[in-house]
Amino acid sequence: MLLTAGYSPALMNDNTQANPGPLPRKGDQVELLAIGIGSRGHVLAEASGIPVRIKGCAAPGDRVKVRLLRKGRGVFDGQLLEVLDASSEHTDPLCRHAGTCGGCSFQAVSYPAQLKAKRSWIQSALAESDLTHVPEVQPVIGMRDPWHYRNKMDFTFGSRRWIEEHEEQGVVADFGLGLHVPGRWDKVLDIEECLIAFPEASAILNSARRYARQQNLDPWDVKESRGLLRHLVLRKGFHTGEILVDLVTETASPERIDPFAAALLAAHPEITTMVQGIHARSAKVAFHEEQRILHGEGIIHEVLAGCTFEVSPTSFFQTNTLQAERLVECIGEAAGLQNGDVLFDLYCGAGTLGLCLANQQKDVRVFGFESVEAAVQDARRNAAANGAANCEFQVGDVRAVLEGSADGDLPRPDVVLIDPPRAGLHPKVPAQLAALKPRRMVLVSCNPVGNMVDLARLEFLGWHLTHVQPVDLFPQTPHVECVFTLNAAPLP
Ligand SMILES: C[S@@+](CC[C@H](N)C(=O)[O-])C[C@H]1O[C@@H](n2cnc3c(N)ncnc32)[C@H](O)[C@@H]1O
Repeated sequence: MLLTAGYSPALMNDNTQANPGPLPRKGDQVELLAIGIGSRGHVLAEASGIPVRIKGCAAPGDRVKVRLLRKGRGVFDGQLLEVLDASSEHTDPLCRHAGTCGGCSFQAVSYPAQLKAKRSWIQSALAESDLTHVPEVQPVIGMRDPWHYRNKMDFTFGSRRWIEEHEEQGVVADFGLGLHVPGRWDKVLDIEECLIAFPEASAILNSARRYARQQNLDPWDVKESRGLLRHLVLRKGFHTGEILVDLVTETASPERIDPFAAALLAAHPEITTMVQGIHARSAKVAFHEEQRILHGEGIIHEVLAGCTFEVSPTSFFQTNTLQAERLVECIGEAAGLQNGDVLFDLYCGAGTLGLCLANQQKDVRVFGFESVEAAVQDARRNAAANGAANCEFQVGDVRAVLEGSADGDLPRPDVVLIDPPRAGLHPKVPAQLAALKPRRMVLVSCNPVGNMVDLARLEFLGWHLTHVQPVDLFPQTPHVECVFTLNAAPLP
């Protein structure tokens, strides 16, 4: 049933409900006006006053035909069937996998509208938070060319390929190499072209699929937990041109893997190094229990803000090199470091941010803290390679490190840089930070809407939010990074 006039005529125009009519039900087809984008990235509409999250490539202002799917917690999911009338914020998706892949859910939203939406989520979250002083959110720093920006892609092999609607019956269904379809952990969509991956990635991906099938290498069966080929991780140093291929397999099987590697390397001389990671456990992420280097050094290099970093198959590195440089600039401005300052780099990963700041200001001392030992080893190696004698990195849980810092031999920090995981700070950490009495704190957040509680706690403890600068590290997706500056000085 297509519900239009009579069902909710007002909704057709402005989504208001003068005469809402019968309540919509699962399975109904309705025509709606998309009214905005929620902070989790769904384009939103309303059916008889009930919010609808649209699945598919729509933009705010589009008039759309949607089939209502399941309803949970007062919200319908709605499958987009057709864009009836595209708004000025609509742009036709460029990617042939848009709508199925789910990786770039913002593809139908023009890039200026994406940036506007990301800024407005942060503005709204600040306005609704417990903060008493809320500065204006600066316009999001976007990319001039918001495509082919990712320096790392993790593709999955699977024995259950997702068959697309346009495909004929009887096509090969037992071999897929690409990305999981949203909500289907068992199905892999063959990706032929990824427009956010670095430019060489798609050709390497397609060759890997072709040679693997030609050589009868079996892909991972996620239900049976067996199969030779598991992941294909591709990484590139944008400033060095170096490309790493990490093939993750269940067993070493050199008699089967080496001919495959030889074929891939012959077809793609741009690959500077190829590694085989081996692991038989059932983790869903690329992970190495053992490693064989099949070609080259086993690592690549990337340059960020004048520092050179070693990137191994498993090391953490910002995935958008060009925007990470913008991020470092913003953090540098926010930190306002002075000669002789001590900087704490909390949740420092492989030390990327602290090292870049230390490289720009050699008389600052940096102390980085991170819970993952391998990342700290990377940070120390990166510090040595860049001659950064002013940087020290320690393994430790931030809460425990801060608890011990009063009695230990760490100096008091002038500035604290905080780049926590998505979940934000442990509830005890804001008070520990306040006790250090730094001049300034800089909170770098990949989940700005979720960090409002942390900001409010810090304000309560005397650190006022003075500047908010979002940076778009993830175009075509609903993610955004944000640099929050907090000052100890009283507000004017
Ligand atoms: C968002 S990443 C920051 C990465 C780093 N700043 C960079 O730009 O490369 C968060 C980091 O926090 C680390 N981490 C998570 N919980 C932690 C904790 N309780 N104490 C210390 N580090 C933690 C993670 O291992 C991860 O490396």
